[in-house]
Amino acid sequence: MPTYNEAPNVAELVRRVAVAVERLDAVRDAEIIFVDDSTDDTPDVIREVAATSSLPVRLIHRTVHTGGLGGAVIEGMRAAASDSCLVMDGDLQHPPEEIPALVERFGAGDVDVVVASRYAGGGTAHGLADRTRVLVSKVSTAITKSMFPVRLRDITDPMTGFFLISRSAIDLDGLRPRGFKILLEILVRRAYRVAEIPFHFADRHAGESKASVRQGVHFLTQLTALRFGKMSLFAVIGGLGAVANILIVWALTQWGVDYIVAAIIAAEATIIGNFLLIERFVFSDMRGQASGVWSRFAKSFAFNNAEAVIRIPIVALMVESGHISAVVATAITLVVAFVVRFVFHSLVVYAPRKAGPTTPVRATMEKLDEQAMQPGEL
Ligand code: GDD
Ligand code: MN
Repeated sequence: MPTYNEAPNVAELVRRVAVAVERLDAVRDAEIIFVDDSTDDTPDVIREVAATSSLPVRLIHRTVHTGGLGGAVIEGMRAAASDSCLVMDGDLQHPPEEIPALVERFGAGDVDVVVASRYAGGGTAHGLADRTRVLVSKVSTAITKSMFPVRLRDITDPMTGFFLISRSAIDLDGLRPRGFKILLEILVRRAYRVAEIPFHFADRHAGESKASVRQGVHFLTQLTALRFGKMSLFAVIGGLGAVANILIVWALTQWGVDYIVAAIIAAEATIIGNFLLIERFVFSDMRGQASGVWSRFAKSFAFNNAEAVIRIPIVALMVESGHISAVVATAITLVVAFVVRFVFHSLVVYAPRKAGPTTPVRATMEKLDEQAMQPGEL
């Protein structure tokens, strides 16, 4: 159970889960693991409840909230003693009384995952806060399913946070959890044998939802990255840059700035903007192992400026000697430049740092230092 400031829900949740699980013959060694990122007194409440619970309750309190809700779920799965991991929210929107139905379906042994669905026949989503949330949920489910028509063919609710899964069926290291939609992340990575059971998505027992516009943005980047990989995000950001470039040139020339100056300002501004965006959205998972931010910026900035300078004469050469039209030549060089730029960024700008002295300057300094430290012969 992932929790973020769910103090008023913990006792009721554990009580109802314990009642539901006690009725199950198949489950003898169940445990509850809370993976908690709270900033309130939730961890204290969990410890208190654990002391008197009939079910073993374990608490993992994280100070670094890697991957948010999704990261917490993965961490809980790694920590679990059992291979069968049931994931549910900590606010009682997923009724613990449904646990036996999930366990029984899973017990048939013919599937890797049992998904509790709001949208399967008999399920409902009444607990969604308002009309907007209902619409957002329905539309994003439809878009998601259309983007993965094969993988998600038999799944009505890939965005649910209530499911039972065999841990050994998942490649935990291959997952890149970002925010709320961990089941989606799992399901699109490989083909699973999936069964669904309908359930009623209830109202929150207490406290507030942590869903936000920010989570929505996370979801969109997750979707794009899962479907098209890094390269498509890179392309989308590049496309935005081209539009921004045109707008800046237009605005500056309206102001009376000379068009050459305007073009240079627009080019440099979009090169910088592009760097900031790819840092944040495309290569964020590679920043940790790469060289420092200024070094990355210098490489990216140098590449993009060099590219702009080199591409124009190449277009000219193609037009003059290859008898290709200027438009076609421009298009070809832009596509080639895009691919080269992507490859350069993923292999050079965000390359993992090497250990030890790498730069010639540093190597020379160390040699000098070594000499200086030699015992002298006066
Ligand atoms: N550890 C951890 N870290 N837990 C988190 C975090 C986090 O950063 N953010 C949220 N949670 C926990 C909450 O405490 C709650 O137990 C659960 O994740 C779901 O969060 P809610 O705030 O209740 O969000 P929701 O109801 O909008 O979203 C839930 O319902 C969706 C269905 O509409 C999530 O379960 C989604 O996964 C689910 O798809
Ligand atoms: Mn909720």
